[in-house]
Amino acid sequence: MENELQKLKAEAEEALHAISSKANLEDFRVKFLGRKGLFSSTMKQLGKVSKEDRRRLGQLANSIKKSVEELFRDRKEMLESGDGTVAEAVDLSLPGRALPFAALHPISQVMEEMCAVFEGMGFAVAEGPDVETDHYNFEAVNIPRHHPARDMHDTFYVSESILLRTHTSPMQARIMENQDPPLRYISPGKVYRCDSDITHTPMFHQVEGFLVDRKVSFADLKGVLTSFIHRIFKDDLPIRFRPSFFPFTEPSAELDIACVICGGSGCRVCKRTGWIEILGAGLIDPEVMKMVGYDPDEFSGFAFGLGVERIAMLKYGIDDIRLYYENDLRFLKQF
Ligand code: DAH
Repeated sequence: MENELQKLKAEAEEALHAISSKANLEDFRVKFLGRKGLFSSTMKQLGKVSKEDRRRLGQLANSIKKSVEELFRDRKEMLESGDGTVAEAVDLSLPGRALPFAALHPISQVMEEMCAVFEGMGFAVAEGPDVETDHYNFEAVNIPRHHPARDMHDTFYVSESILLRTHTSPMQARIMENQDPPLRYISPGKVYRCDSDITHTPMFHQVEGFLVDRKVSFADLKGVLTSFIHRIFKDDLPIRFRPSFFPFTEPSAELDIACVICGGSGCRVCKRTGWIEILGAGLIDPEVMKMVGYDPDEFSGFAFGLGVERIAMLKYGIDDIRLYYENDLRFLKQF
């Protein structure tokens, strides 16, 4: 009888293993564990064995039945937790559930692209603090107290002398006062102004750039910026330099590109002029040089400041700057 029990155990385990759907569970239970099942009929034979063996065989039969019942319960649970088939419940070869990939924000993408173009021209990258002193944000770039240019900056003040930088130009002074020429730097980062409408957000991004060496001329500036624009937009995009004013450059200019929306024929975006202003630039003002201890008779340099959102808007034809900051995945996924 002992053999019979062992055989029954092996048979039951094999049968259990073969069950691959919920529907077959009940058949198994009736056949092996039911009142008229194989275990019951084998146990009935206990009455026929000798008294000495009965106790031992009884215990064995009970423990085997219990272990098969346990296996049956496990199998049942497994089948009921999946979609009812073993293949679904335990198929380790199935690939994991894919999570959607994140991507760089379009502003970060454009900023990285801009930096890469300048790095290709030998500019090093240096980042500075968003929380800046009045000194670096204004005084050191030749915008003294009560200078009318301060009005244009709509500054967020933290205290009397601490503020959120309104442009990346303070990095010119920060870098120059710690190093000697020749210098060739760009400085990308966030800037802040108290302003908000479809073309302004209170926080936006700029890339500042400057170069200081002996005999640097406006022609060098034009060469660097023209290459840059042609790399970022397209090779033959018409551009023009238009005289302007910035306190930290003299002479100063703004660079316009032919409107990328209408191709120069005039539209709403370029206000029918065919041109779009894209950056400010100029030769570094001798006053700025003197403040960091450079001799303006020995050294000269140029500087420029670019708005990243503006370039991204023109590159991708986006007419509302606020889209960049609403975190709507339907918008962000397009880049
Ligand atoms: N800082 C200026 C602004 O935010 C941009 C700028 C203009 C930067 C001319 C420069 C420059 O370095 O030479 O409006």
